[in-house]
Amino acid sequence: MKEKLLFFKKFLQQGRHIGAWVPSSRYLAQAACKSAHLEEAKLVVELGGGTGVLTQEIVRQIPQNCDLVIVERDKEFAQLLKHKFDGSHVWITEAQNMHRYLDEHGFKEVDCFVSGLPFLSLPKKVSEAILEIVENYLAPEGVFIAYSYFPNAYYFFKRFFPEVKVEFVMRNFPPAFIYTCKKK
Ligand SMILES: C[S@@+](CC[C@H](N)C(=O)[O-])C[C@H]1O[C@@H](n2cnc3c(N)ncnc32)[C@H](O)[C@@H]1O
Repeated sequence: MKEKLLFFKKFLQQGRHIGAWVPSSRYLAQAACKSAHLEEAKLVVELGGGTGVLTQEIVRQIPQNCDLVIVERDKEFAQLLKHKFDGSHVWITEAQNMHRYLDEHGFKEVDCFVSGLPFLSLPKKVSEAILEIVENYLAPEGVFIAYSYFPNAYYFFKRFFPEVKVEFVMRNFPPAFIYTCKKK
């Protein structure tokens, strides 16, 4: 309950960057991770960890030797994530700067990006910059998973990825579309 209140407070303070009133449901987290096939990943990057609903599911599914980098711009969320997932790299920054962290740590190819970022409500230039980095660092066989409450997010992702599959999850507030994007 405390985390839901924190999330709602953040929504009131910075709605455009949060994009939702409440954290994702575990059903959405499970459906997003199912499409990601995390069991063989070596490096997973989560964008916009929030209170960690998706992170929880990612951590449950990745193998022991897999690195998890969580990118979160809000300091309070990032502190919470560090506390909850102390084996992972939590980086407090904007996702449009994540290439610096990846380069500094020698992370060349990302097997899976899982995103909770509200791409359609962020400034267009920011969303485009993030997608360009994702496209550059995603392994050839890798997968980019994002969810959105809007069906037109499809057209945005399709500009960067030739393959975009869509799934609809009812058990979330509000119901959401999961986009699974690949380079080929
Ligand atoms: C809709 S919330 C998703 C939170 C969580 N993944 C979930 O599903 O409940 C979006 C999250 O993205 C973060 N965020 C927004 N813009 C960002 C950016 N440019 N870089 C990194 N994080 C960002 C927000 O602070 C927030 O935690």
